[in-house]
Amino acid sequence: MKTAPIEPARIALAPDGLPHAPDFGDVYHPAAGATGQARHVFLGGNGLPARWGGRPRFVVLETGFGLGNNFLATWDAWRHDPQRCERLWFLAIDKHPPTRADLARLQASSTLPELARQLVAAWPALTPNLHALEFESGRVRLLLGFGDVAALLPQVMASVDAFFLDGFAPDRNPAMWSLPALKQVGRLAAPGATAATWSSARALREGLATAGFEVSIVPGFSGKRDMTTARYAPRHRPAVQAGGLQIHTGPREALVVGAGLAGCAAARALGREGWQVTVLDRAASIAQGASGNPAGLFHGVVHGDDGPHARLHRAAALATERLLRPWISGGRVRGQIDGLLRLAGTPATSPWPIDYVESVSGQAARARSGLAAAEGGWWFPGGGWVVPGDYAGALLEAGDAHFAGNACVEAIERRSGRWHALDEHGASIADAPVLVLATAIDLPRLLGPALAEATGTLAAVRGQITGLPAAGLPAPRVPVADAGYVLPAVDGVLWCGSTARPGDADGRLREADHRHNLAQAARLLAAPAIEALPTDTLQGRVGWRAVTPDRLPLVGALPDLAACTTARHDDRLRRLPRLRDADGGLYVIAALGSRGVTWAALCGELLASWVAGTPCPVEADLRDTLDPARAWLAARRRVALADPQT
Ligand SMILES: Cc1cc2nc3c(=O)[nH]c(=O)nc-3n(C[C@H](O)[C@H](O)[C@H](O)COP(=O)(O)OP(=O)(O)OC[C@H]3O[C@@H](n4cnc5c(N)ncnc54)[C@H](O)[C@@H]3O)c2cc1C
Ligand SMILES: C[S@@+](CC[C@H](N)C(=O)[O-])C[C@H]1O[C@@H](n2cnc3c(N)ncnc32)[C@H](O)[C@@H]1O
Repeated sequence: MKTAPIEPARIALAPDGLPHAPDFGDVYHPAAGATGQARHVFLGGNGLPARWGGRPRFVVLETGFGLGNNFLATWDAWRHDPQRCERLWFLAIDKHPPTRADLARLQASSTLPELARQLVAAWPALTPNLHALEFESGRVRLLLGFGDVAALLPQVMASVDAFFLDGFAPDRNPAMWSLPALKQVGRLAAPGATAATWSSARALREGLATAGFEVSIVPGFSGKRDMTTARYAPRHRPAVQAGGLQIHTGPREALVVGAGLAGCAAARALGREGWQVTVLDRAASIAQGASGNPAGLFHGVVHGDDGPHARLHRAAALATERLLRPWISGGRVRGQIDGLLRLAGTPATSPWPIDYVESVSGQAARARSGLAAAEGGWWFPGGGWVVPGDYAGALLEAGDAHFAGNACVEAIERRSGRWHALDEHGASIADAPVLVLATAIDLPRLLGPALAEATGTLAAVRGQITGLPAAGLPAPRVPVADAGYVLPAVDGVLWCGSTARPGDADGRLREADHRHNLAQAARLLAAPAIEALPTDTLQGRVGWRAVTPDRLPLVGALPDLAACTTARHDDRLRRLPRLRDADGGLYVIAALGSRGVTWAALCGELLASWVAGTPCPVEADLRDTLDPARAWLAARRRVALADPQT
């Protein structure tokens, strides 16, 4: 999917005081009131709140988030409904979202001031990706996609129960009501889904009917004669489930193996969806593998072409900042989010908003980092450092997960509809309908040769970090990175790193590796004396990163290779048979490589979407990019191209 920077909305006030979009020649809501319209047209037109009563999850999708008035009214209705669903998901797309300042200005007179204040406070950077915001301790989830409906709707993976169609008037904003867009609405419709809009345009009604809806005209809001409601009733049952997701319908119970950042992030995301999660680890306590480093940094990535790597890193970094900021400021997790400087020589101009990344000159870089010699580069205001073990602990706690240590899993097995983790005697340590492997470099061994083929090569890359006494040395105020990095002093120690040696199993600290790290630190801090420091005064730690050839994580369900080869399946990832059904399955979250701190939050959410069928937190093409079967499928395609008979 091609991305472009987001152009914020231009919003004026019409003479009657209504917010007005001069570019579309239309108002955001009628004079009779945004909340009133939301209640009559969008909630009432979709049979809400009654329809969500007693359900574990209800998913709304809105085209045209605008000022968020429909969202606020929906959230308010959910709050006041004693029969409310356990969790309310609200997905919304907007090509021209308001800036935070405009949103604050226009919501200052909201009829729902407390909710509006929370929305403004959570308003994300205007970057073209999905932004997962949370309210009500995660029971109300707002997934905002900034971009054109024509490009973004086909990228949404969700099973939607109610659609709010709220573009500007069809004659001034045809893209929002086009037949392809309405067909996407049909693709995303869960069984029994409904749609509503204030418009009663004929083309819209015909489009909805073509998309599989039964359409009705009902009385409109505040004297408007008509509006449209619709119920999904396709003539033929679609071959794939709504939105391309498999919805889990069995008991919400999962077993996670591996209590590093990956396993703990999976536990959090599932736990918040109401799952009971047990996390096993061979170590006695959590975060004893790579996630046991004393500190790690996190930040986004900028690439000229904004390809999948950059888009994924951006979504991941923004999600990490959102999750960690309150934990760090509340003292739950040791760390700092005051920005991060990525040195890059002459700064290019950044196409992105400065609340995500800014290109800075040498002078600005020196002022912000406190390092006399820093050159220009990228400034990530939401970047920082964290103690990964603290982070893993907070994730586990947030998922209300049960941890069991000293549990070395030697094999896995599916028996009577449940996945078992087995010890060295073949006895079951624990079992659940869903098994999630978060065992980093031990993934291929646990999967065994047949299944490991499905996830492709995974390298174990040894790394050593070095901690030097901060006294008398220039310390940066924020993490500073290029090929190496230096963090601000933590408890009197400056951590710097790191080395990277694939296939090296030596767990002892090595002098040569310390020297390598000291040389990088000396360069970054412009302090040549560092290179000569005696290594016996230094602290250090060795760990192993699990790394795929494309350096991206593996997140999702394992493919069912036997079914793939015999049935000669479609060559698309989304159609591959998987080792799962509606009652359970086998999943991985692994290969977080050198950036596990940045990846954990987003990958945990993505894993939960795979497992539970919750709306996917990233665009479909990005989900494919992290699909654990991607390398296997690519290899199979290469073979098929070379020999069309296979
Ligand atoms: C030197 C170094 C520096 C790094 N610096 C940074 C940084 O600054 N920023 C950043 O984002 N990332 C950094 N990383 C990467 C980051 O640490 C990892 O990406 C992340 O910790 C991986 O998390 P994980 O949960 O996948 O793996 P791990 O933390 O290794 O967790 C895997 C867990 O699975 C358990 N396990 C494995 N097999 C079994 C089994 N059979 N049975 C039971 N339990 C099992 C292990 O005991 C372990 O607890 C660094 C890595 C290294 C090595
Ligand atoms: C009527 S307003 C929505 C009001 C909003 N539902 C609310 O509750 O405040 C229409 C919205 O559609 C958005 N829009 C217009 N064209 C679009 C397109 N092609 N893709 C996505 N959004 C678009 C506009 O930016 C605007 O915010």
